[in-house]
Amino acid sequence: MSSAVAEPELAAQFEATVRRKDRIEPRDWMPDAYRKTVVRQVAQHAHSEIIGMQPEGAWIGRAPSLRRKATLLAKVQDEAGHGLYLYSATETLGVSRQHLTEMLIAGKQKYSSIFNYPALSYADVGTIGWLVDGAAICNQVPLCRTSYGPYGRAMIRICKEESFHQRQGYELLMTMMRGTDEQRAMVQESVDRFWWPALMMFGPPDDASPNTEQSMAWGIKTHTNDELRQRFVDMTVPQAEALGVTLPDPDLVWNEERGAHDFGQPDWDEFWDVVKGSGPCNAQRIAHRKRAWDEGAWVREAAVAFANANDEEVPA
Ligand SMILES: [Fe+2]
Ligand SMILES: [Fe+2]
Repeated sequence: MSSAVAEPELAAQFEATVRRKDRIEPRDWMPDAYRKTVVRQVAQHAHSEIIGMQPEGAWIGRAPSLRRKATLLAKVQDEAGHGLYLYSATETLGVSRQHLTEMLIAGKQKYSSIFNYPALSYADVGTIGWLVDGAAICNQVPLCRTSYGPYGRAMIRICKEESFHQRQGYELLMTMMRGTDEQRAMVQESVDRFWWPALMMFGPPDDASPNTEQSMAWGIKTHTNDELRQRFVDMTVPQAEALGVTLPDPDLVWNEERGAHDFGQPDWDEFWDVVKGSGPCNAQRIAHRKRAWDEGAWVREAAVAFANANDEEVPA
């Protein structure tokens, strides 16, 4: 694209758009570092949706009733859809899904650390919906107003589906809590395992999150990690009470002065270990994704061959 407008003027227009809290669109000029940051964040988000299908997907064949199976199947399919909307958003910046998937499989891009924890019991299906999708909602609702247009618009649709995910999880746990002592114990055991990893989903504490400040200045992020973590805790405590489960944090207490809960810190050493690849399921998750990608090669080849054959039929 040739343009007579000089770069400083384009940069000023970009800054003004961000300041107005308007959207940056694919056709707009943007700083290289902004483009890279959006691609990195959206890719990481897309990978999380796709890898996130695995822990619960493992329970589809073992769901205890047709209703539970249909619900879980729909939820896991939604996550595939979320991944696809997000890969489409990166394509508007000229980065293909194929390239990003190859980066993921090569270990060069990350996904949310939460999906490196296994789903060990059927109660985990409920807990993942309640806590993991619940944390995702806290993270994602503000992203509906993120500065990059295609990302923000994808988030609007994704958030509607995430709230269904959260409710189906909570409803499943509520049903189990009304069941036998054994079922109640399963729910508590599951919540004990997922509580801390769920808090880690918001990322490291603000003072250990070097990219936050620039991302907020560009309107890519609108709240800090610690703000969102606080919001999640305050939202979840009354839900835990209604459910009748105990959150495994002895420091969790209402702070009248702050009008918010005080709570303990997750084990950040564990967080960094999992991020760096040593979580309980990192190798398994990537191996599974690689197998699916390799086994799908013929579909991609056939799609390209079909598109090329059809192109030739179109008169120039
Ligand atoms: Fe999702
Ligand atoms: Fe979800």
